[in-house]
Amino acid sequence: MLSYRHAFHAGNFADVLKHSVLTLVLEYMTRKEKGFYYIDSHSGAGMYSLNDDYAQKTGEYKDGIAKIIAADDIPEALEPYIELIKSLNDHSELNYYPGSPGIAKQFVRRQDSSHLFELHPTDIEHLTSFCQRWNKSHVKQSDGYQGILSLIPPPSRRGVVLIDPPYELKEDYQKAVKTIIQAYKKFATGTYILWYPVVKRELVDKMVNDFTTSDVKNVLQVEFCQSPDTDEYGMTGTGLFIVNPPWQLTAQLESILPYLKKKLGQNNSSYSLTQLIEE
Ligand SMILES: C[S@@+](CC[C@H](N)C(=O)[O-])C[C@H]1O[C@@H](n2cnc3c(N)ncnc32)[C@H](O)[C@@H]1O
Repeated sequence: MLSYRHAFHAGNFADVLKHSVLTLVLEYMTRKEKGFYYIDSHSGAGMYSLNDDYAQKTGEYKDGIAKIIAADDIPEALEPYIELIKSLNDHSELNYYPGSPGIAKQFVRRQDSSHLFELHPTDIEHLTSFCQRWNKSHVKQSDGYQGILSLIPPPSRRGVVLIDPPYELKEDYQKAVKTIIQAYKKFATGTYILWYPVVKRELVDKMVNDFTTSDVKNVLQVEFCQSPDTDEYGMTGTGLFIVNPPWQLTAQLESILPYLKKKLGQNNSSYSLTQLIEE
């Protein structure tokens, strides 16, 4: 079953949190000369037009990136992400929004390489064409969970792994954490970023339990919920587990989260930032 298309959701509030963290992590990786692997297990199309029928149908970006792109009170920690989005657009007009490969492309240097997995037949076509002239990229139409395990540890022992499943299948919740636990055994110093939606709280609780009963250390959990948990259908919040986060990330998120609540939140929005497992 492959019905999920990220084009409907590009630039929404979940992307803002996920991609601002990805930007900060990748910027941190480039502070050292030594090369690194960027591994994206669920890549999507790479770049999205916000004027196409998909984005226009849901208008999700209007409650996400569109609300902050032109703001004049951006916290310093959010600036690298906002500058990146602006650099892909003309002035303050918002026409394009990058997917995670589009963000990585801005950071991957000659000594680094990116490894991008995607299964959907249409999105793999878009991704392949997006990466055509990007010679540090390796695109594969195959399962991203297996892809991660086949590539680690990177030769340089430096790497960032983004796991961003569509969660169309309930098994993704467990499979994603299980993949990190397995990967960690082979590459315990890598940085792993796992995105999750808050749809049913018990599914998130199970992920937390799977992490805390594993051998994985140094896990930060960040969450931003637009509305309280509910039994109704739909995503109320967004979160990330970050294994081995850069040391300043907690402080950076402490300034980003209240800003997102102010700009993208509703009356009863909330956020949390928890060192789930210590180093
Ligand atoms: C949430 S989207 C990814 C968005 C992207 N990471 C970003 O931030 O722009 C999830 C993608 O995973 C793809 N997908 C689903 N199952 C997969 C699998 N097992 N391996 C690789 N890709 C998969 C879907 O087709 C979809 O494009």
